[in-house]
Amino acid sequence: MLSVVPRPVVVRAPSKVNLHLAVGDLRDDGYHELTTVFQALSLADTVTVAPADTLTVRVIGDDAAAVPTDRTNLVWRAAEMLAAEGGVAPNVEIVIEKGIPVAGGMAGGSADAAAALVALNSLWKLDFSRPDLDAFAARLGSDVPFSLHGGTALGTGRGEQLVPVLTRRTFHWVLALAKGGLSTPVVFRELDKLRAEGTPNRLGTADELIHALTTGDPHVLAPLLGNDLQAAALSLNPDLRRTLRAGVEAGALAGIVSGSGPTCAFLCADAQSAVEVSAELAGAGVCRTVRVASGPVPGARILDNAAKG
Ligand code: C5P
Repeated sequence: MLSVVPRPVVVRAPSKVNLHLAVGDLRDDGYHELTTVFQALSLADTVTVAPADTLTVRVIGDDAAAVPTDRTNLVWRAAEMLAAEGGVAPNVEIVIEKGIPVAGGMAGGSADAAAALVALNSLWKLDFSRPDLDAFAARLGSDVPFSLHGGTALGTGRGEQLVPVLTRRTFHWVLALAKGGLSTPVVFRELDKLRAEGTPNRLGTADELIHALTTGDPHVLAPLLGNDLQAAALSLNPDLRRTLRAGVEAGALAGIVSGSGPTCAFLCADAQSAVEVSAELAGAGVCRTVRVASGPVPGARILDNAAKG
């Protein structure tokens, strides 16, 4: 009898920027209560899964050397979780092609985990529903459900409870990637420390920003971007102030630290302006490299449909 080996499945998952990131109090479980508006951006990772004798992870592309290939990688945990839930052996080779900066505040690890869930659900023909995958994603990390979801969404709880937000038109971004990374828990702890010392102010509600998104006008949106983690990221990496200033001087409408940083995200008036800002920023010597991106884009999606049938 002929045994049919399933074909590899390829999934692309987006990065994210937090347009509004209001950090509430530290909860008993070690997480902070958040009110955040995520937007998925076209800067993406690609994850390919194929049958193998054992579970292995390989990383290629930008920053590949900075990504672990053992069980500390979130895709490893995603594969083990999905295999256990589905009653199959986690024998698969997972190849991650990095486009999203590592430890950059753009949910790169979460994107890979979301991509792995979608890819393996297809490869292993498990037929888990969307709500099932959402629940697995939330167990893996606070940002993983959004990486599945994509688009623009309001996140509450620790960021895993999502409601879609209506947006009109595409927004154009320039991303300044920093030399090193920042650890998310370290940035949250720094914010707790700054707050214990009395600074800084807390962001208000997201209502105005959510309204601005419905106008589709980046000029209306730009002054409303805000991130409570920015003060903490700047405290840990003061060079980012220079990066933020340089982006606005180069013609961006506004600049913010993306999530827990250190990537800085600059909202631009249109696609042409984003190209111009990126060229000027690249020459300013204030970051490791520069990328242009647009959003919103969809969440983790299969690129190769051949494995479905
Ligand atoms: O959920 P995830 O594992 O990605 O979170 C990484 C760390 O970031 C947590 O252990 C916690 O220190 C911090 N965090 C937080 N509040 C959140 C999300 C993350 O304090 N809402």
